[in-house]
Amino acid sequence: MKKEKKKKQPSPQSSVKPLTDEEVSMLKSAMASREIDRSTLPSTDNSDAAKVRRFIKKNKIFTVSCVVLCVFIVALLAILGAVAIKNSLENRVNTDDFTVMIGDEVFTVKYKTAIRNDVLYVDMYKIAEYAELTKTGKTDNVKFTASPTQYLRFENDSEFAVINGALVEMDGKAVVNRDVCEIPLSFLSAVLGKDNGLRITLDTATNTIKVVRRMYKTKDKNAIDPVEIIFYSDSFNIIQSIKRPNEEEIEFEYSIDVTSYLDNIDPENGEEYLILANKQTPLGEDYDPTDLKELTCRTNKKMYLREDAERALYAMMLAMNADGITDVFVTSAYRSYSYQVGLFNKYVNGHMAEGMSREEAEAAASEYSARAGTSEHQTGLCLDFMTDDMSELDESFEKTAAFAWLSENAHKYGFILRYAEDKVDVTGYKYEPWHYRFVGRTAATEIYQSNLCLEEYLALN
Ligand code: DAL
Ligand code: ZN
Repeated sequence: MKKEKKKKQPSPQSSVKPLTDEEVSMLKSAMASREIDRSTLPSTDNSDAAKVRRFIKKNKIFTVSCVVLCVFIVALLAILGAVAIKNSLENRVNTDDFTVMIGDEVFTVKYKTAIRNDVLYVDMYKIAEYAELTKTGKTDNVKFTASPTQYLRFENDSEFAVINGALVEMDGKAVVNRDVCEIPLSFLSAVLGKDNGLRITLDTATNTIKVVRRMYKTKDKNAIDPVEIIFYSDSFNIIQSIKRPNEEEIEFEYSIDVTSYLDNIDPENGEEYLILANKQTPLGEDYDPTDLKELTCRTNKKMYLREDAERALYAMMLAMNADGITDVFVTSAYRSYSYQVGLFNKYVNGHMAEGMSREEAEAAASEYSARAGTSEHQTGLCLDFMTDDMSELDESFEKTAAFAWLSENAHKYGFILRYAEDKVDVTGYKYEPWHYRFVGRTAATEIYQSNLCLEEYLALN
């Protein structure tokens, strides 16, 4: 009998006992009660494809981790690269001291002096001297003039500058004192524009600022002349400005023949009549005009003004009369320092009689009356009007035909309304529709057309 060869059975380990039927059934029910992932059980499929699948499956977490890590490293490198480029760009402007070349002169300016609050400054005094600009003004408020219409004005600790009558903002505050006039370079570069007599350049690689006066050859080519210096305000946002009437276009219409008064109305020395007298700018006790003339127009007492102002006023009163306004007269003109002492005290005493303390009374009076030494009546250039039906000097003057006429015409005779209703914050005085100030026709017209008060006009001029 052919014996079938028995397949060799794996011999049970001697230490493992076969399970009893009871144990097998317990195990089955335990397995059945759990969700067993059969894919995790060893496969019995030994094909190559299956082996590869099993390898991939086994190494899936590892692979995903590798990919994530690679992406992270690449991103990190990209960020580090961008930061490095940015830093290298930012550090492009070095922190070396600045070399400032103004014409043939060379100065070294410490980096910390040249750059403050990230703004690069240059000293305008040095540039002005080289460019032969005229320097006027005060220690802390200077004006640099290239020609009558071309000028710049800077005030200490102010970010505002004036370019030919236009108020603009700079990138930083000016530092103006006896020794320096430090101005942001960005402002000067913009104000000089491209085609200018003065060219300013900055080399950021070497921290070098160059200021060069441009010259051109004259027609005969034997000489060279400097190119005219022009200041441009076009690229700035203009905050406030003087509107200059075009000399050719402007035509003044008068109700009378003013020929014999024109030299007074529009005097050549017009600047002389731009004196400022206010709370911040006192004239002092000793100020007294020398050319006072008695008024010859209608007044209620003897009064005086400086000669040009008196003549201009006379012409203006003639014109008002010619236009049918005859009820107007002058009630106050030049007032001496001592007269103003008495006037101001009269107002203060009046308020104290109403129950105010001296301090309160002085504060109340100085809203409409000037302390002695600060009144522009002391200049001999201003006057107060009244009309016949007014019992005292008050705002009722605003309702008169005289006021309506003055509002249209006073500037043509060189007068301005000095204390306007919308300028109380600047002038420091309440509205005075009756108070007119002589400044000459040119300034009066510019002030009138620009809706400025004298303080603003002078600050922009
Ligand atoms: N009423 C003007 C402000 C003056 O007293 O001068
Ligand atoms: Zn007055």
